[in-house]
Amino acid sequence: MAEGCAVDCFKEEFKRYKKRGADLSNVIDFSSLPSTHSPEVELVPVSQLPDSKSSYSEQARCLGLKPPENWLLYKVVAVPGLLVVPNPFATGGQHGWVRRCLVDYPCRPNACNLDAHSERSGDGRLWPSHTTASGDGLATQSGVPGEGGGQKAHANKRLKLSKDDLLHRLRWVTLGYHYDWTNKVYSSQNRSPFPTDLAELSSFLLAVIGFPRFCAEAAIINYYHLDSTLSGHTDHSEMDLSRPLLSLSFGQSAIFLIGGKTKQTRPKALLLQSGDVVVMSAESRLAYHGVPRILPPSSDNPVPHELSLHALRQPIREQDASDSTEVVCHCCMCGRDKTDQSAVVPHRGDGTTRGCPSCQELAASWQEFMDYLSVSRINVNARQVVSEKHGFEDT
Ligand code: OGA
Ligand code: MN
Repeated sequence: MAEGCAVDCFKEEFKRYKKRGADLSNVIDFSSLPSTHSPEVELVPVSQLPDSKSSYSEQARCLGLKPPENWLLYKVVAVPGLLVVPNPFATGGQHGWVRRCLVDYPCRPNACNLDAHSERSGDGRLWPSHTTASGDGLATQSGVPGEGGGQKAHANKRLKLSKDDLLHRLRWVTLGYHYDWTNKVYSSQNRSPFPTDLAELSSFLLAVIGFPRFCAEAAIINYYHLDSTLSGHTDHSEMDLSRPLLSLSFGQSAIFLIGGKTKQTRPKALLLQSGDVVVMSAESRLAYHGVPRILPPSSDNPVPHELSLHALRQPIREQDASDSTEVVCHCCMCGRDKTDQSAVVPHRGDGTTRGCPSCQELAASWQEFMDYLSVSRINVNARQVVSEKHGFEDT
C-alpha cells in the first residue's frame, strides 16, 4: 500500500513535480515497460473478448485503435483499481480525435470556459478556417491548398497563437451533461447531445478493459499549456460511482499523480503520453489525483512521433499494392460508415495515394495542429453520470 503521512502528502509531491528540474526517476513510464521490470505495475490479460476477434478488430480499426489483442493492460499495484493501457491507438489513429477535440467539440452547443464572458460568436468555432476570413482574432495566414496537402501547401500556413487568441485561452469544454463547476453538480436541465463517436470509443475501450456496460454521458476536455497544472481533486459528482472514469491523453506528456481517498496518502507519479488510456475504477475511482506538470517537447521532436504527418499518412501507405489501381484508406476518419466508398481511393501509380477526402483534408492542415500540439496537452475525461437505478430527482 502507498505510504501514509500526517501532513498533506499529495501537496508535497505536487510541489516537487511541479518544479522544472524535478527528479523523474520514480515516475512510472509505461512506454519503457515491459522491458524494464517494475514491481509497481502488473500486466493483466485484456478481458475475454465476447464476440469473435475479427469483429472486435474491425470495430477497433474504425475507431483508430489497434486490434485489442495487441493492447497491453497494466494495473498500478499501489492504487487498487487504477488501470493503464499505454497508447492502444493505431498508427495514424490519434489525428482524427485531436481534430475532433480542437475543431468540433469546442463548438456550440457544447459548453466551454470562454462562455462566462460570452466570447464565442456564431457556432462557437475557435479553430481557424482557411476557407473563410479567419475570424475570432486568430493570426493565421491562408496557404494555397496544394497537391493533397503536400509539405509545400502548409509550409506557409502556420498557426501563430498570441495570448489574446480565444484558442489560446480555451481551457475546457464539456460535452453531454455539462458540469456545474460552482455547485459541483450535473443536472438534467443542462445537457447537450453527447458525441456518438466519442461514446462509441469510450464504450469500446472500457468493454475490452472489463467494463462492458459503460455509457459515456459527460466529458470534460482539458486543454493544457506547458505551464498549466490541475490541482489535486476527486471526481465524486456522478451518481453511480461504481462506473469508472476514463481518461485519454493527446499531445505533450504529463506527470499524473494519483494517491488515495485522502490527501494523506502519498501519491504515485505516472508519465502519461500521447494516446495513453487511464481507467480509474474501484477504490481509485475516488482517489485524489492531479497534474503538476506538462513536459516540454524535445528540441528534435516538437510533437510525439505518433502525431506526426508521416504517421497520418502511414495507414494509407501500408495498404499500397503496386498491382492494384485502388487501395483502401485505413485512416481513422473514414470507413466508420461501411457504405462510405470514400475509403476506397485511387492509386496514383507512383506508389503513393492521397487517402480518403477527410484524410487528405486533415493532412493539408496538419501542420497547424502540430503547431498547437507542440505546446499543448489535451485530456478527454469521460464519465457515466446517471445511475441505472435512480435518475435525476428533477425528472
Ligand atoms: C479531470 C482530470 C486528468 C488529466 O479532468 O478531472 O482529472 O490527466 N484530468 O488531465
Ligand atoms: Mn479528475
